[in-house]
Amino acid sequence: MLENVLVIGKNGQLAIEIKHCYQNKYNFIFKGKEEIDLQDEENLHKIINENNIKIIINCAAYTAVDLAESEIEKADILNYKCVEILAKLAKQYELKFVHISTDYVFDGKTNTPYNENDETNPLGIYGKTKLKGEQAIMEVTPKNTIIIRTSWLYSSYGKNFVKTMQNLGRQRKELRVVFDQIGSPTYARDLAETILNILPVIQNEKPEIYHYSNEGVASWYDFTKEIMKISQIDCNVKPIESKDFPTLASRPSYSVLNKQKIKEKFHIEIPYWKDSLEKCISILQKGDIL
Ligand SMILES: NC(=O)c1ccc[n+]([C@@H]2O[C@H](COP(=O)([O-])OP(=O)(O)OC[C@H]3O[C@@H](n4cnc5c(N)ncnc54)[C@H](OP(=O)(O)O)[C@@H]3O)[C@@H](O)[C@H]2O)c1
Repeated sequence: MLENVLVIGKNGQLAIEIKHCYQNKYNFIFKGKEEIDLQDEENLHKIINENNIKIIINCAAYTAVDLAESEIEKADILNYKCVEILAKLAKQYELKFVHISTDYVFDGKTNTPYNENDETNPLGIYGKTKLKGEQAIMEVTPKNTIIIRTSWLYSSYGKNFVKTMQNLGRQRKELRVVFDQIGSPTYARDLAETILNILPVIQNEKPEIYHYSNEGVASWYDFTKEIMKISQIDCNVKPIESKDFPTLASRPSYSVLNKQKIKEKFHIEIPYWKDSLEKCISILQKGDIL
């Protein structure tokens, strides 16, 4: 009998990519916020029992980085309190649990890629609440649990930087984009495939944190230039400093993740960000989206 996997946050870009990639090794049950209330523990017990859930992949999150500065409570509930509830359920039912976190748990005041055990110091509410979610999992200590920190996620599905920039580039002759925030774009499909590949071999006594992004680094400016180039959009992209593009939330100026741990542990190869971006844009151009 195939094991049942509950994927939470079914309308988000990562969950949709999981839906696109999954093979028949597991039986996947996708739930969105209309079908699952993550604060309703009784209902969560019911869902786990009725569906004989053995694995939870939590793709749900409050991801609006700037809005989180004014919607602190909402971000805290979804990114921390609900994660704590899921961790407790994972422990009680001895489930495998995969949770996703972010490079924004770091302050970016370095210039070498972050390791999993490097000091965290989030600059904004989004990062702070995501870090509290991580810490809750570590305190509850469910077995067979991993936290994957990723960065700059995009996909052909949902709302994301690639699609926003394509739209803006088609409407405007010129775009100004920050060149002093450095990170690694990550194609959600690559992350989804990795999660599905490593799922059978996740086994640990205490929760483990892993970093995953595409290979290579870029600034948002470089990322945008490449989006325009691959999409053949004729738009003049100009580099600007973050101080000239104020946002409600501060963002780390350097949030490159070191992925050595996940590569060594699970023997995986990670695609270079430009190669993955080409794949995603080719899917967008074919209109081959759900
Ligand atoms: N996006 C990035 O650049 C980025 C970078 C680093 C890490 N991450 C992390 O990666 C993970 C996946 O991100 P993503 O970009 O795929 O996110 P996303 O596209 O913003 O999707 C998040 C999902 O959470 C769902 N959700 C919101 N409130 C909910 C609730 N109360 N109950 C259940 N579901 C709820 C949303 O549902 P609706 O669509 O119905 O609102 C949405 O489907 C998240 O943990 C995020 O923090 C993302």
